Amino acid sequence: MMTFQGSHILSVSQFDREAISKILSVSAQMAPYAMRQKRCHVLEGAILNNLFFEPSTRTRVSFGAAFNLLGGFVRETVGEENSSLSKGESLFDTARVISGYSDVIAMRHPKMHSVSEFAQGSNVPVINGGDGANEHPTQALLDLFTIQSEMTPHNKTLDGINITLMGDLKHGRTVHSLSKLLSLYNDVNITMIAPNELQMPDNVISTLENAGHKVTLTDKIEGNLACDVIYQTRIQQERFASPDEADLYRGHFSLNKEIYRQYCKDHTVIMHPLPRDSRPEANELDTDLNDLDNLAIFRQAQNGVLVRMALFALTLGVEDKLTQYEKPITWHSNKNI
Ligand code: CP
Repeated sequence: MMTFQGSHILSVSQFDREAISKILSVSAQMAPYAMRQKRCHVLEGAILNNLFFEPSTRTRVSFGAAFNLLGGFVRETVGEENSSLSKGESLFDTARVISGYSDVIAMRHPKMHSVSEFAQGSNVPVINGGDGANEHPTQALLDLFTIQSEMTPHNKTLDGINITLMGDLKHGRTVHSLSKLLSLYNDVNITMIAPNELQMPDNVISTLENAGHKVTLTDKIEGNLACDVIYQTRIQQERFASPDEADLYRGHFSLNKEIYRQYCKDHTVIMHPLPRDSRPEANELDTDLNDLDNLAIFRQAQNGVLVRMALFALTLGVEDKLTQYEKPITWHSNKNI
């Protein structure tokens, strides 16, 4: 199995099934701390530097919350304009300097492979929070954790999963990373619904097909939603040449309660990495689904805290010390996601 301690987390390609199993099991151990049933201060004194050079809500805040939940301190730089990258400093120099101020770094950047370039200059572990349209490995891990936990009540596992990915599969880094991780499991049946121009990149399809999985490419919703999991995505306007070009595709594959009732199975779980685009012209996941038990999107986002806590514990080598550093909760808390 890969060595986690001291390692960068840059791509899902660095994981095998054993490593993923370890991450998911440590993630599950984080639930009592994330749900405020107990505290854990195993990272007391440690410093996370969160460097986010592209907008984010979930990834940035959940990285920070995850580190705080393990007792560590968080420092943040948000926006390239607030960093000396805007003065021409290289990613290497920035990494070398920031790693001197940190025990671990989480980074998001709009350029593909930029986080790997940054990691070459870092003396501490760097975790990729999304690099352009390339990868979003921590999202894929939390997606796997979510699929596993949502399927357990239905006696289903990641092996044999029947999943439909929808939307902007060309630019959506979360679906690239998730597909690569799913390729490690057995008998995955994966349907990809997208306009032809926004279909999944060939290299991702090849990874799945070479691993023996059934991949169906289509631009039609009808007949393709009777699956275990629908993974809906947003049109990634920021990756198009212009907003006008993105407009051509917005609203094509909106999912609402009527479509769900018509085409899905009783147990079909709906996921989305979020943010969903709730503007009327897009509305890929209608708010009329909000009262559906099988809408897993908020549980999915919450699972991001568990998975990121696990990655910090593993990369900093404290995953076996959690219970030694527990404390009771002293305040009222009724967390219920
Ligand atoms: N899923 C995700 O990456 O969300 P943010 O862009 O809000 O971090």
